[in-house]
Amino acid sequence: MISTVAQPSRILIGAGARHKAGALVAEVGGRRPLVVTDSFLAGNGAADELVQTFADAGLSAAVWSGTVPDPTTDSLAAGLAAVTAHDADVLVGFGGGSPIDTAKALALLAVSGGAMAEYKASRSNDGPALPIVAVPTTAGTGSEVTQFTVITDSRTDEKMLCIGPAFLPAAAIVDYELTLTMPARLTADTGIDALTHAIEAYVSRKANRFSDGMSLTAIRTIGSALRRVYADGSDRQAREAMMLAATQAGIAFSNSSVALVHGMSRPIGAHFHVAHGLANAMLLPTVTRYSVPAAEARYADCARALGCAAADDDDATAAQALVDELEALCNDLAVPTPRSYGIDERAWRQKIPTMVEQAIASGSPANNPRVPTPDDVAAIYSEIY
Ligand SMILES: [Fe+2]
Repeated sequence: MISTVAQPSRILIGAGARHKAGALVAEVGGRRPLVVTDSFLAGNGAADELVQTFADAGLSAAVWSGTVPDPTTDSLAAGLAAVTAHDADVLVGFGGGSPIDTAKALALLAVSGGAMAEYKASRSNDGPALPIVAVPTTAGTGSEVTQFTVITDSRTDEKMLCIGPAFLPAAAIVDYELTLTMPARLTADTGIDALTHAIEAYVSRKANRFSDGMSLTAIRTIGSALRRVYADGSDRQAREAMMLAATQAGIAFSNSSVALVHGMSRPIGAHFHVAHGLANAMLLPTVTRYSVPAAEARYADCARALGCAAADDDDATAAQALVDELEALCNDLAVPTPRSYGIDERAWRQKIPTMVEQAIASGSPANNPRVPTPDDVAAIYSEIY
């Protein structure tokens, strides 16, 4: 089997790496970077710090801070106008997954035109597109190293997965100091997102030896660091570990795939405005229990990496320990159910047929070791409520 591996050509990793953003943008050929970010990072001085490094490198930078959480097709028009107004030659996605995903969409639309709905999966997008430099401020989405973006269609509320090399950043900066001020809830949600990426990449039907190594390394690190960083956000060692693991999990799933958890979580996010990582967390233990019978040995490997099973436990015991540990982890990290989150039961049940349809249409469930029928997906939505 031949695997194609794609990742940014340069990744700067470590405390203070953000100060090298100017030199990095110049290295990928940018002279007129546009920082694509949100109003929070534009207002707290973080974007200014980045812009200073561009000025120091002799670049002409501008900032567009109009990105929204769970970016919509409607939110892209103002961004495209900003790209044109600045005549940008590189887009710097700065923030959590939403600003980076927005930068990716703008990079393609600015050069190739059209509407985002034309680019959704299963189409693979080669571009042409502007180069992207990604600077994450959370440790979870992995968007800085993936060839994916997720944009919600404002017309239908569908969270569209869009894939292809056009969305792969040319370069990334992975500086855990940017995550030190994340509140505990965001730390937990993004951390579980990273764990979900690593597990899904490992059990995916598209897994390969390269992605396997990245997955297991990330799972091992997250197993030792996630509870620590949730309990004490100022634990620099744990923050650094989570940041690197999130990037490694991103490389893993970008070169394998995500699976049923992500397929089912996107519709929850789209229809009920649940944060991405939290929607994954609501699903992860139940979807894992459902999937184990089809890939017991693979889930057992995940359990041993996570540290909840011993090396000499048999696969059945280890896989069961994984399900138990994911339940315990979600409990320790105060993950709510859709009901305790405040979602109305009738509204939830009414949306299940649409969520099932959109989950399956995204293609992710087909990568799951146990490929679900629409009835299976509906039953899981029902069960987790
Ligand atoms: Fe994710």
